[in-house]
Amino acid sequence: MLAGKTILVGITGGIAAHYLPELVGQLRLRHLALVQVMMTPAATRFVSPLTLAVAAGGRVWTDVFDETSRAPLAHIQLAQMADYVVVAPATANSIAKFAHGLGEDIVSLTLLATRAPVILAPAMHEAMWTNTIVQENVACLKARGYHVVEPEVGLQPEGTVAGGRMAAISTIIARLIEIDRSISVEAKAVVTVRVFGVPTANGCDCGTQGTSWREATEWVARSLKTCFGDQVRVEYLDLFFDALDAFPQVMELIARGEANPPLVFIGDELFSSGGKISGPAIRKRLETVEFAEVK
Ligand SMILES: Cc1cc2nc3c(=O)[nH]c(=O)nc-3n(C[C@H](O)[C@H](O)[C@H](O)COP(=O)(O)O)c2cc1C
Repeated sequence: MLAGKTILVGITGGIAAHYLPELVGQLRLRHLALVQVMMTPAATRFVSPLTLAVAAGGRVWTDVFDETSRAPLAHIQLAQMADYVVVAPATANSIAKFAHGLGEDIVSLTLLATRAPVILAPAMHEAMWTNTIVQENVACLKARGYHVVEPEVGLQPEGTVAGGRMAAISTIIARLIEIDRSISVEAKAVVTVRVFGVPTANGCDCGTQGTSWREATEWVARSLKTCFGDQVRVEYLDLFFDALDAFPQVMELIARGEANPPLVFIGDELFSSGGKISGPAIRKRLETVEFAEVK
């Protein structure tokens, strides 16, 4: 189940990039995933970041060196927050970068830093796809555990029918669901609780009523360990400001009891109490959360 999972979509510079608003929209609205989008500079020549921002319901990451950003280490934060990374279309050029560990744009740099499963959907002219160098790079990535959704035979932009066409959006999503199911089965006995913290203007320290953000999250971790022992794995996720668009969607999931894994919110107190967050408030919120084993 993709609902509540963070899916990082990386778009690289191929003609098939124009299908990506559809992929992003489906993941977000039909599968209720939390989607973050990053694009290489070449990708922005094929599809507008603005269109993607609308589909994603939030900002799009295009620049590694964005001096105006409140998240100067976005590539690390994106890498850590992702449950899955999907790169579609994956160009021959980017596949080579991934295979050889280059990190010169937000997509390749983030891939270097992530431990999340990566799903690639290559797309290119058949003459490029059948090139031995490309095939060797793909084989190298598969050997390192990357998942590859093979391109299909179909109509090429110049009107011929040939291989190398990006797999259909439905095929890419079906593969993602299949991977997610296999991972959820492996992790059956483990309840994953993701603790969202919201940084304040002073960084990640709320500093009110004597409880810092770090103390608060440590308190949550200790309480959960006491209740559930090794059954629980606590993940910390600092939701930096630019990712806050995910909140209404996540809150809706909780309200409908569909969040999986269960989610504990610390940061939402911030909105209702003018920036204040306290230990008792966190305890109160924890009491309202039902923890269930991942099925
Ligand atoms: C019109 C046009 C279409 C292109 N389509 C593809 C494509 O489908 N697949 C591909 O691998 N490269 C394609 N390229 C080449 C890439 O855009 C180019 O290699 C670029 O440097 C890729 O950068 P990136 O991998 O950093 O996004 C195309 C180039 C042009 C001009």
